[in-house]
Amino acid sequence: MQDFNILDIRNVNKTYISAGKSLQVLHNINFFVKKGSSLAITGASGSGKTTLLGLCAGLDKATEGNVILNGIDLKGLTEDELAAVRNQHIGFIFQNFQLMPTLTALENVMVPLELRREKNIKTIALDLLDKVGLADRSHHYPIQLSGGEQQRVSLARAFSTKPAILFADEPTGNLDGETSVKIEQLLFDLNTQAGTTLVIVTHDLELAAKTNRIIKIKNGEIISDEPTLENPTIINQTV
Ligand SMILES: Nc1ncnc2c1ncn2[C@@H]1O[C@H](COP(=O)(O)OP(=O)(O)O)[C@@H](O)[C@H]1O
Ligand SMILES: [Mg+2]
Repeated sequence: MQDFNILDIRNVNKTYISAGKSLQVLHNINFFVKKGSSLAITGASGSGKTTLLGLCAGLDKATEGNVILNGIDLKGLTEDELAAVRNQHIGFIFQNFQLMPTLTALENVMVPLELRREKNIKTIALDLLDKVGLADRSHHYPIQLSGGEQQRVSLARAFSTKPAILFADEPTGNLDGETSVKIEQLLFDLNTQAGTTLVIVTHDLELAAKTNRIIKIKNGEIISDEPTLENPTIINQTV
């Protein structure tokens, strides 16, 4: 399965229409991601990173082109079908966590498992909270947690369904040094132990260097796509 492209982005354009004006934020994006690899997307603020991640994860639709995730072309899927694909294949860590404020840490982690009608949901969720060091915070609400703790809950939630691919939007952006190291460790453990493909948007060049490959974007275009020097084991060239 090493050579399987879990993500295949072909000629993708994205144009937002707001206040009657159109703004093209992604221009002819093309890349493949090999299953089990890790990839960092870097670029200045406003360059289109979050938009690109959202399209890759089926949270939003490309204006033109194809996003093929785990062999499924997302084009033409209904909102319900997209939601099912996300729940089945994807974990997503949002820049601003997006935890549900009315649910406890434990309940937040349980949500994706409930959607999948899994068994032993509570045990699985408690185990995940334990893994991210929050066993004693399971009954706290997001507002009662620090930014780093909310990020770890968000990570536990994203891991809960053992996704084939995990998207993380600046996962260490709001965290102190010590907490970032822990979060990074959890991400890469998932990559090596469960074979989860990682796609990480980051400003942190040290974090980017720990992945197999770095894609740089500028003004909505890919300006470079290179394997990292440190971890060039899996080379994923754009075709
Ligand atoms: N929903 C939206 N409607 C209109 N413009 C948007 C929307 N989301 C993002 N943009 C614009 O698209 C560009 C890229 O944004 P974004 O993908 O968030 O960049 P980044 O994550 O690299 O900072 C920015 O100019 C931003 O203002
Ligand atoms: Mg962003």
